[in-house]
This record gives sequence, structure tokens and C-alpha cells, in this order.
Amino acid sequence: MKIFMDTANVEEIKEFADQGIVYGVTTNPSLIAKSGRTQAEVIPEICKLVPGPVSAEVISQDCEGMVREARELVRIADNVVVKIPCIPEGLKAIKILSAEGIRTNCTLIFSLGQAMLAARAGATYVSPFIGRLDDIGEDGCAFVENLVRVFRTYGLPTQIIAASIRSQEHVDRVMLAGVDIATIPTKVLAGLVHHDLTDKGLAKFMEDYRNSLKK
Ligand code: E4P
Repeated sequence: MKIFMDTANVEEIKEFADQGIVYGVTTNPSLIAKSGRTQAEVIPEICKLVPGPVSAEVISQDCEGMVREARELVRIADNVVVKIPCIPEGLKAIKILSAEGIRTNCTLIFSLGQAMLAARAGATYVSPFIGRLDDIGEDGCAFVENLVRVFRTYGLPTQIIAASIRSQEHVDRVMLAGVDIATIPTKVLAGLVHHDLTDKGLAKFMEDYRNSLKK
């Protein structure tokens, strides 16, 4: 499973990119707004920080507008992937962009049917939203497990990005499901490296080391 960061905060990405664990990044209009900067400012900077795909989302909701925005966005850097919402106009745009060799991430996916349509339209990635399904009383991770099974059954080349991740348990469950990518918010990613037994074990090693010097 590849690890993406789900943020538009350049400083946060720098910190984790230095650990060598971040392959790509996903953004959306809400994350861009939260960064306090514009998409045009942050996307070029993010693209330099990670080796893999950086998703930048279109604002238009009609096919023509989405395609126009997408063609502009991919001029920013080779690793830009265009995020397109899973709506009928979005599927049309994905079909056109896919034929032009422009990579797309079909976002706001909440059902197996939506994911299949996005894959058939030619999306490079689909983003099922776990946390938002949990919010309405469904099991978002179970949805991702089913999606992985369906895509494998039909041998679809479209990769699955587990999105709307809210906890370490979400990360563990999508990893067990065999998802291609998890896009993880900074706070959850920061928590993954920690374990009480690691801290206790390290303290004991250091204590034993210091004691050995006294002998
Ligand atoms: C990423 O592609 C999504 O836009 C993001 O994970 C949504 O997360 P949220 O449901 O926590 O806003």
C-alpha cells in the first residue's frame, strides 16, 4: 500500500516527505481553503516535494469546463492528477481526458456502482470516502474491502485510493483489504509511528545501556 498525504499544507508535507514515507498527495477545495493559500500557489510546491501523483480538483461541474481546467492543471507538473467528481459530466470528462493520456482521480465515490462507472470511463484512480460513509451509519472500510474484491474480480487497472480516513483503525483495515493507496490526513499519519511498547522498550534499552557503563 502506498501512502499519500491528504492535505494542502506544504509545511506538513515537507516534514513527512523527509521521512521517505509519502509517495503522493491528495487535495480538494476544502483542504486548499484550509491552507489559507490558493490552488495555483500550493500545487506547484507540493509537486516538487513528492515523487508520485498530486491530485488537484476541478471546480467546474460541466464536462467542457472540467476538461479545460484539467488541461491547465497538468501543465503545472508531470505528477499532477486531475480530481473529477463522480457525476455524469465528470464521467464524460474522464473519458476525454483518459483518451488524451491525462490521469484522473474520480472523487466522492460512495458505492460500488459509482466506482465501476468511473473505472469504465477510464479513471486512473477512484477515491472511496470511508469517514463520510461511517458518518451516515455505514461501514466505510467494509465498502473498500468489497471494492478491492470487485476490481480484482474484473481485473480493472484503476487503482483504489482509500480516502476520508479518520483513524489508525481505518488505515489498518484498508491495508488488510489490499487497497492500492491510502491517503492519510496529517494527524492520523503522525500517530502511526507511535506505540507505547516502542517508547517503553526504548527507555529500557537506554536504561540498560547507562547501567552497563557503570559496571
Ligand atoms: C481525498 O481525496 C478526499 O477529498 C478527502 O479524503 C476527504 O476527506 P474528509 O471526508 O475527511 O473531508
